[in-house]
Amino acid sequence: MSLSFPIEAKLKDGSPVQVVLADHQDIEPLRDLYRIIVEEGMSYPHDRFPNQDDFIDYWFRGKSTVAAYVPDHAGAVTMAGAFYLKSNWPGRARQVANAGFIVAPDWRNKGLGWLLGATMLAYAKQLGYRSVIFNLVFAENVAARHLWEKLGFKALSAIPGAVRKNDGTYQDAMIMFRSLLDQ
Ligand SMILES: CC(C)(COP(=O)(O)OP(=O)(O)OC[C@H]1O[C@@H](n2cnc3c(N)ncnc32)[C@H](O)[C@@H]1OP(=O)(O)O)[C@@H](O)C(=O)NCCC(=O)NCCS
Repeated sequence: MSLSFPIEAKLKDGSPVQVVLADHQDIEPLRDLYRIIVEEGMSYPHDRFPNQDDFIDYWFRGKSTVAAYVPDHAGAVTMAGAFYLKSNWPGRARQVANAGFIVAPDWRNKGLGWLLGATMLAYAKQLGYRSVIFNLVFAENVAARHLWEKLGFKALSAIPGAVRKNDGTYQDAMIMFRSLLDQ
């Protein structure tokens, strides 16, 4: 499947969404969105918001970053979700991709995660990746695990007690994998 950005689509509730390759102007809205995700503390390893350089490193440097925009109530556009895509390892294993996803709380359960996930798989294939691995899917993040399984990922293993929770206890993290050779 050949993919070209921007992609125009509709969410389950009929909201139009535009999926774009992120550029400089997307840094600020993505930082605001990622701040919410870090504050939730349910899905990413950061336990405090990273400084600007670390944020740029995590979300942009050496990565393909994709953002989804939707019209807000006032008719302006707002960033509702994003993903990054990169090699998980260098050199001989660079054809194994890794990706990270976020959807704004107000825009969840409308199919945006699925749209971004399906877009990532097609884009990864187009960029020459042979597979995708997620290294750290929090075991208690049932929405994410459900979504990745729906997109064809399989849990390879669990990393016992990998993630410290806000209450000081620990949860496992799943390693999830999907080949792109059958796409
Ligand atoms: C995971 C995430 C990206 C999903 O985005 P989304 O836009 O809500 O995804 P979708 O609407 O396409 O699909 C969500 C699916 O999860 C299901 N779901 C939602 N909450 C659930 C829950 N508590 N338990 C089980 N399933 C749940 C929905 O029913 C839906 O499945 P369905 O389409 O079969 O009904 C979003 O919740 C998010 O950004 N979370 C915080 C960041 C994160 O977890 N990133 C991924 C890290 S691995």
